[in-house]
Amino acid sequence: MGFFDSGVGGLTVLKEFRKILPGEDCVYFGDTKNMPYGEKSKEQLIEYSKAAFEFFESKNVKAVVMACNTTSATVYDVLKDEYSFKLYPIIQSVTKILAELPVSSLGVFATQATVNSHAYLHGIEHISSHKKVFEISCPDWVRIVESHDENSPESLNKIKEKLSVMLKFKPDKIVLGCTHYPFLLDQLSKFADRELFINPAEFFVEFIQEDLRNAGMLNDTDAVGQEIFYTSASAEHFRKAGEIFYNLSNARIESV
Ligand code: DGL
Repeated sequence: MGFFDSGVGGLTVLKEFRKILPGEDCVYFGDTKNMPYGEKSKEQLIEYSKAAFEFFESKNVKAVVMACNTTSATVYDVLKDEYSFKLYPIIQSVTKILAELPVSSLGVFATQATVNSHAYLHGIEHISSHKKVFEISCPDWVRIVESHDENSPESLNKIKEKLSVMLKFKPDKIVLGCTHYPFLLDQLSKFADRELFINPAEFFVEFIQEDLRNAGMLNDTDAVGQEIFYTSASAEHFRKAGEIFYNLSNARIESV
């Protein structure tokens, strides 16, 4: 299985995936050199995604998990039929489940590119038109996570500031619609009930498991699958930023 993200954020998806599917071999690619994806144009995101997918092709993966919300929102529709492996985009895989949650309003924190696409809003409205959806972008949060600066007073202020704007809408639940944001759950929980936040990766991995099973492609053994991590920037940087969320102490991490 391939896992694709702009940096360490996709580890929030891999972590959920591992809880239910420990036996799959996983190849993770974080395009740290080109992040933040949320501030890139569609053309740039297509170019980065094509390079990543060619890399996954060379690794012979059976499927690629588009952990990154931003590329799911902007690139999936363009590239979905171009490759021999299965592609799992996070947003399109979870909007049905979000739309059916027994709540009347949902907040979504996401990158600027994801908010501009309204992929969450449209996906949810399509199924449940009466649900209110509020999308807010948090441009600083990805850098806060990648630089492991989540507890500085400046970062806490930036987190609190966006959360206050969101809370004015009084959402019943808030979707963390960028893979990096669950890294900030402890900080967000300083200012609001932890139960308010939804990590869509929890629904996403169940969707993937079910789909792989239906396709006869699931490896549901309990044996521990292999993991290799690739990053387009420094391996040490990746380890440092990622290890607060995922156990990378003995992980093989390579810079490509
Ligand atoms: N983590 C990605 C997402 O889920 C993109 C973050 C970024 O690089 O801006 O949207």
